[in-house]
Amino acid sequence: MDTYPLGQFSVNRIGFGAMQLPGPGVMGPPRDHDEAIAILRRAVEWGVNHIDTAQFYGPDVANELIREALHPYPDDLVLVSKVGAFRDERGGWLPGQRPEQLRSAVEDNLRSLGVERLGAVNLRLHEGRAPGEEPVRLEDQLAEMVALRDEGKIAGVGISTATLAQVQQAIAQAGIVCVQNAFSLLDRSDAAVLDLCAEKGIAYVPYFPLGSAFPNMPKVTDNPAVRAVAARLGATPAQVGLAWLLGHRDNILLIPGTSRLAHLEQNLAVADVRLGGEDLAELEAGTAS
Ligand SMILES: NC(=O)c1ccc[n+]([C@@H]2O[C@H](COP(=O)([O-])OP(=O)(O)OC[C@H]3O[C@@H](n4cnc5c(N)ncnc54)[C@H](OP(=O)(O)O)[C@@H]3O)[C@@H](O)[C@H]2O)c1
Repeated sequence: MDTYPLGQFSVNRIGFGAMQLPGPGVMGPPRDHDEAIAILRRAVEWGVNHIDTAQFYGPDVANELIREALHPYPDDLVLVSKVGAFRDERGGWLPGQRPEQLRSAVEDNLRSLGVERLGAVNLRLHEGRAPGEEPVRLEDQLAEMVALRDEGKIAGVGISTATLAQVQQAIAQAGIVCVQNAFSLLDRSDAAVLDLCAEKGIAYVPYFPLGSAFPNMPKVTDNPAVRAVAARLGATPAQVGLAWLLGHRDNILLIPGTSRLAHLEQNLAVADVRLGGEDLAELEAGTAS
């Protein structure tokens, strides 16, 4: 499997995102606990050494499944989490970006994953803010992330859901190792950030690589051009969407999310799917907006 640096680590470009492991709405226990454990173990058996998670997936559910399935962790496994949000009792996503909230979120991740240091932690930004909260300056959020790195709780700092200007600020102030923004065949609105990361040698880790599990978002696997190319190649539509990302830029690290072992196996086999010139042209014509 091809690799790319994620800060001080060299990780396989095909990783795994744990957001689909908890129950509906990323809340509560998984649909099938044994399948969730099998997914995590199969991923690592098949070479995944980069898992993306968050304490607020569940909450705690994704991290506890990772710990149950994989602890004691293989030496080369890089666990990446994110901070800057928490869940209300109805599953709502609320920003939690004050420095003390970022710190306690990192501590929560260390505890629930059972590690002393996280491979990287993304500072997850939000446009909105919690009721009654003052906005927290990005500079202050980044300063806390740097302090956590200096204390050895985080190996690398990343940033997520960030604009180009915010990414530039994070590079200058925190020397970030990764950016996690939405990007896929169907959503290329973040191309400028991707280009900047490629130029700087920073890993770009697209979320929603298949269009997410949220019902209101277009799915890569439903796109007619994707389906036509998949049929021609004898691949699945998900594999075509992921193969396009792998071929698009060398610094893209995949973290597709799934709650199904069969889908995981397809996603891990994407390295075998090669898109030729005709395929790329058809995808371009059928997806670029
Ligand atoms: N930083 C952030 O703010 C942020 C936000 C969102 C996500 N993330 C991270 O990014 C990761 C990826 O994003 P995501 O999970 O939201 O969305 P995604 O990977 O774009 O899509 C997940 C959806 O695709 C389906 N799927 C997966 N593999 C498939 C296959 N081979 N064939 C057909 N359908 C397939 C899944 O359904 P099944 O479960 O049925 O397979 C699920 O509905 C997450 O897991 C999470 O770690 C980060």
